[in-house]
Amino acid sequence: MKIVQVTDLHLARPGETVAGLDPYAGLDACLVDILRHHADAAVCVLTGDLTNDGQPEAYAALAERLRAFPIPVRLLLGNHDDRPAFRGAFPDAEVDENGFVQSVLDWPTGRLIFLDSLDPGHVGGRLCAARLAWLDARLEEAAERTVYVFLHHPPFAVHIPAIDACRLAEADADALAHRLKAHGGVRHVFAGHVHRPIFGSWHGIPVSVLRGTNHQMGLEMTGARAGVSYEAPAYGIAVIDAAGLMLHMREFPLPPPRS
Ligand SMILES: [Fe+2]
Ligand SMILES: [Fe+2]
Repeated sequence: MKIVQVTDLHLARPGETVAGLDPYAGLDACLVDILRHHADAAVCVLTGDLTNDGQPEAYAALAERLRAFPIPVRLLLGNHDDRPAFRGAFPDAEVDENGFVQSVLDWPTGRLIFLDSLDPGHVGGRLCAARLAWLDARLEEAAERTVYVFLHHPPFAVHIPAIDACRLAEADADALAHRLKAHGGVRHVFAGHVHRPIFGSWHGIPVSVLRGTNHQMGLEMTGARAGVSYEAPAYGIAVIDAAGLMLHMREFPLPPPRS
């Protein structure tokens, strides 16, 4: 089973730049590269910050692109997103009973769980009691199966102070860790938000973060600020088989700038 992860698109109104870049150039090049090399992916998961400021025009432009994209997609929200604007452009997106953009995808090899960590008005993320209760029920249903979790905000420290100050709220991260450990079959946590490739483990569970499709963030492990960096954009390819999970990061070529 192959899963593609794309994150931190930061789409603005078409024609507007973000961090000096056209976010649609990155997204379009990314989608072309995925279809060229990984058209056999079972699902493409977009792990939040779909837009830069929740603009309805940006969600509409994303919806238009994805209509022509043949791989099934799941869309998650990040701190730069706007839940009502997202649902306006994607009325068929699965949501939970409270309207959070949370869902599952079941395969014979396991269950993918997609969490909504958006806390409107805040850069950091939350998993409130309602969202955690939904997760409890989904984990209970998957009692004997392997589980893969996707959310925008890392629930773990990445040792970049600027990011650790706005990751998933610590109490919520502890609550999440408790639940995932108790399940015992959680094989990986995929996150976004950091705009950097990071691979490690958290309470014994493998975790990863990827670069975005527009701008990246500098590796600033001291000091309270982390600036924009222009390292190559990338997406991830996770291949799951009976023996485990392998994750690749693919830097995709951008078209040459227009002269
Ligand atoms: Fe982002
Ligand atoms: Fe973010």
